[in-house]
Amino acid sequence: MGKKFYIETLGCAMNVRDSEHMIAELTRKEGYEATDRLEEADLILINTCSVREKPVNKLFSEIGVFNKRKKEGAKIGVCGCTASHLGEEIIKRAPFVDFVLGARNVSKITQVLHTPKAVEVDIDYDESQYAFGEFRSSPFKAYVNISIGCDKQCTFCIVPHTRGDEVSIPADLLVQEARKAAQSGAKEIFLLGQNVNNYGRRFSGEHPKMNFTDLLRRISEIEEVERIRFTSPHPLHMDDEFLEEFARNPKICKSMHMPLQSGSSRILKAMKRGYTKEWFLDRAAKLRAMVPDVSISTDIIVAFPGESDEDFEDTMDVIEQVRFEQIFSFKYSPRPLTPAKDYEGQVPDEVGSERLARLQARHNEMLDEMKSGRIGKVYEVYFEELRPGGKVAGRTDNNWLVQVEGSEELLGRIVPVKITETNRLSSQGVVVA
Ligand code: SAH
Ligand code: F3S
Repeated sequence: MGKKFYIETLGCAMNVRDSEHMIAELTRKEGYEATDRLEEADLILINTCSVREKPVNKLFSEIGVFNKRKKEGAKIGVCGCTASHLGEEIIKRAPFVDFVLGARNVSKITQVLHTPKAVEVDIDYDESQYAFGEFRSSPFKAYVNISIGCDKQCTFCIVPHTRGDEVSIPADLLVQEARKAAQSGAKEIFLLGQNVNNYGRRFSGEHPKMNFTDLLRRISEIEEVERIRFTSPHPLHMDDEFLEEFARNPKICKSMHMPLQSGSSRILKAMKRGYTKEWFLDRAAKLRAMVPDVSISTDIIVAFPGESDEDFEDTMDVIEQVRFEQIFSFKYSPRPLTPAKDYEGQVPDEVGSERLARLQARHNEMLDEMKSGRIGKVYEVYFEELRPGGKVAGRTDNNWLVQVEGSEELLGRIVPVKITETNRLSSQGVVVA
């Protein structure tokens, strides 16, 4: 019997890709196979997120459960951003943990596996950090990391401390990776980075000048690529050239993530986001004017230190004006190593909860208003996943989740679907032949 690993992945798409990288290394170099049964695993991995406090607190109770349920001799490894941030403290607090592997170090998975109590959390740069074997969890969609780390210093965010400085991966390698994935059936290429449209600012060696817009063009020239998505772009770097390419290039999916964080220029300044409310509104308006069918998603933090009622009203105002199709909203969570945790004017928890509830309630109303516009329309849906009850799920170009009745034969195909029923975030439809 071969050795088996169990992996739990928390957090963002980048963590999903990091897990794929670790899986590639474990299967290719160590002969491991995946299992979804913790009890039969020889190796248990948890790929963690440290962006907010709650999941970090849950980590220790969760690995405690792993330790009780694991089979004798099985190893437990804590990976990802919380591993980077807490390092050896994890082994001090939970001595049964066998190794700690930071977000920037996942390529070392096979080394730490054989080094008792290894703690590998270095955030310096080395080329091996993007040299991996091949593994993709979906045959239809390929995640491609275009940069690692983040050079921004948003004052609330721990990511620059866990993932280190931003380094772009050379475009030739990315084009090669995307081509290979597309030729083996992944019609959709999903470009990942903390700050994708800052691409090309720094490479590790000498490389020709190239920005994110150039990279999008190059990826779209690959014949087999039909759809390109990316996350996260930064509103500050949404220049005209980028928005025009987004609008013009038919392979770029018409869904844009524009992480607002706050609608108040004063708070944006305290967050060091580098843009104002007016800049954000101008970019969103330009985008809506150029791409009428675009869907815009965002991230919002309420109750950042010093946020007054008036600042919060600015955020509500941006929501009214932009009418986001999706909002990921969070209550500010003070994080170690970040300047904002020491700012004056920390907002009481109840005030944060009230603001969050108000924002979400208003956004739900807006989604209810928007959804009826979809019924009866036909969208091109890329089917990626079988669902229980004889359903198949896929996404429209502008990123709505759509389910139809059907079977495997729809998987991996882009097919026109007429929407028959819809709720806030997903729709039902029928294939129109
Ligand atoms: N580079 C990514 C951000 C990664 S963190 C981007 O620009 O989208 C993902 C989201 O978590 C952020 O956009 C922010 O809304 C939220 N977040 C980050 N730090 C936070 C904190 N301290 N408290 C609450 N939410 C936070
Ligand atoms: Fe965090 Fe800001 Fe970078 S939110 S990941 S520091 S762009």
